[in-house]
Amino acid sequence: MKQQQPWQIAPAEGKLGILLPGMGAVATTLIAGVLSVRKGGSQPIGSLTQMGNIRIGKRTANNYPKIKDFVSLTPLEDIEFGGWDVYEDNVYQAAVKAEVLDVRLLDTIRPELEALKPMKAAFDKHYVKNLDGTHVKTYITKYDLAEQLIEDIRNFKATRDCSRLVMVWCGSTELYHEMSEVHRTLAGFEEGLRSNASNIAPSMIYAYAALKEGVPFVNGAPNLTVDVPALLELAQLTGTPVAGKDFKTGQTLMKTILAPGLSARALGVKGWFSTNILGNRDGLVLDDPDNFRTKEVSKLSVLEDIFHPEVNPELYGDMYHKVRINYYPPAGDNKESWDNIDIFGWLGYQMQIKINFLCRDSILAAPLVLDLALFIDLAKRAGMSGIQEWLSFYLKSPQTPPGLRPEHDIFKQLVTLHNTLRQIMGEEPITDSVPDEYQDATEAF
Ligand SMILES: NC(=O)c1ccc[n+]([C@@H]2O[C@H](COP(=O)([O-])OP(=O)(O)OC[C@H]3O[C@@H](n4cnc5c(N)ncnc54)[C@H](O)[C@@H]3O)[C@@H](O)[C@H]2O)c1
Repeated sequence: MKQQQPWQIAPAEGKLGILLPGMGAVATTLIAGVLSVRKGGSQPIGSLTQMGNIRIGKRTANNYPKIKDFVSLTPLEDIEFGGWDVYEDNVYQAAVKAEVLDVRLLDTIRPELEALKPMKAAFDKHYVKNLDGTHVKTYITKYDLAEQLIEDIRNFKATRDCSRLVMVWCGSTELYHEMSEVHRTLAGFEEGLRSNASNIAPSMIYAYAALKEGVPFVNGAPNLTVDVPALLELAQLTGTPVAGKDFKTGQTLMKTILAPGLSARALGVKGWFSTNILGNRDGLVLDDPDNFRTKEVSKLSVLEDIFHPEVNPELYGDMYHKVRINYYPPAGDNKESWDNIDIFGWLGYQMQIKINFLCRDSILAAPLVLDLALFIDLAKRAGMSGIQEWLSFYLKSPQTPPGLRPEHDIFKQLVTLHNTLRQIMGEEPITDSVPDEYQDATEAF
């Protein structure tokens, strides 16, 4: 296999700070998980960077190194965590309240978790009506707020002795709003910060502060944040990578596993009804219709982009797709989802598929945050900036360059991710086309 030149990658020297706006269920499950793995008490299951393999060259048994041994990634020992929340609970208290991880596990790392206290949040209740936290910054203009966040970022980097930082939004889903004039240019956005433009959401202020400092930013929620031209302009200006949005877990993960299979076999779909019950704080926030709308838009786009009804009207032109989320406190973080899929095959004969996924939301999300943080740091060290579409694998509504439709098929997303890693390391991309391999095989006999 012909080798290309490996890219110039700055080494992962020193500590990487992972900054998390929002230290609720997902963030605390990530932090406690990494600390527990570091102590040798658990396995980082579900994390591709830690557990996944990648094929290099031919399909022979010894050509599948672990991803973390193939690319230059920050070791878990070198990660520092920090963040902000509207509640002042330390990470131990927040993790106990989230009820995701067993208290016995949390107790094995209790002092380290108690030492992690959130910084005061940049918060605006207008964007998350169902929260009443008081651990929030005061400000006159949103520009002051951005400056306070920049100060927090700098202090964190200095006091925790980090050589690099990344930021991953793990805050609540903000209410649905669309792009407007203030989001179009960086100059207009900064003017909006100074004049307290109402359609600049807190998540955008965090993203602005991060990008100003050249800190890569990932949006784990479906709200409008770094997917506006003004912030992409800033990312370009400071040479900073960004990715978004909405961690792909639970029901949507199942959809992007199953739907490509149906489409690959040219089976038709008449309807796809998805409903969920969820009882954590995320569920409470999503109980408000304005916040649910943000999530709904993110979840609905997935099937259309996999099935392409406009090019396949006979199979998918009449598909009815409905998504519901219901807040049901007894379920806690253990979300339960039901999917009813009405499909049809040869000569139009109908069939049904039922899925009942009893998942654990934050258990699925935490490894994604880890991978996204490590990979976006790699991107920065490799000199990549702007939208990192190769990270679509992790996201429900992947950000794409303007004019391109997102790729939702999880298997195609994985190929893109693997090939990007191969290219960074100077290896040929793998297309899995067979003729070459047959040719090689006959030569070997
Ligand atoms: N768990 C999953 O599977 C999953 C999947 C996709 C997306 N998400 C998204 O990830 C985010 C986090 O999920 P979670 O289950 O941890 O929710 P959570 O409610 O447990 O945690 C969110 C935290 O963000 C805090 N917060 C809200 N606004 C803030 C602000 N402006 N600044 C700082 N903190 C703020 C809240 O106080 C809360 O503690 C949500 O937006 C959720 O929709 C989660």
